[in-house]
Amino acid sequence: MQWNESWNLGIATIDGQHRNILKAINALQTASGPKMIPKLLQALTAYALIHFDYEINLLEENDFKDLIGHKREHENFFLQIREFSTESQEEPDLEEFMERVRIYLVNWLFSHIQEVDMQYRDHLLARGIK
Ligand SMILES: [Fe+2]
Ligand SMILES: [Fe+2]
Repeated sequence: MQWNESWNLGIATIDGQHRNILKAINALQTASGPKMIPKLLQALTAYALIHFDYEINLLEENDFKDLIGHKREHENFFLQIREFSTESQEEPDLEEFMERVRIYLVNWLFSHIQEVDMQYRDHLLARGIK
């Protein structure tokens, strides 16, 4: 899955972090066996954690209100990754499982960027953050 320029918010750090999350999602597809999956999911979690913390801190510092729904979406992402991680240890049909994981993650990332992260873009750009 390739990055599409239309997914950029125009805030360099955030866009770079979103790209890293996509890279970690793509790296998952290289898993050659179920044993690799928890490690790759862990790497994805690590990138996501760095990004979510950075994003929420930046928004709080810039007085962006009403972050409850946004934080909940980030939480749901981690919960789902944890479920995938557990499932990967139960010897799923690898091809079917990886396809389900890929679809969930790619959909989550792009709908989150376009529907949730986009809501703060103008606020941060107006404050001179780019
Ligand atoms: Fe977010
Ligand atoms: Fe984000």
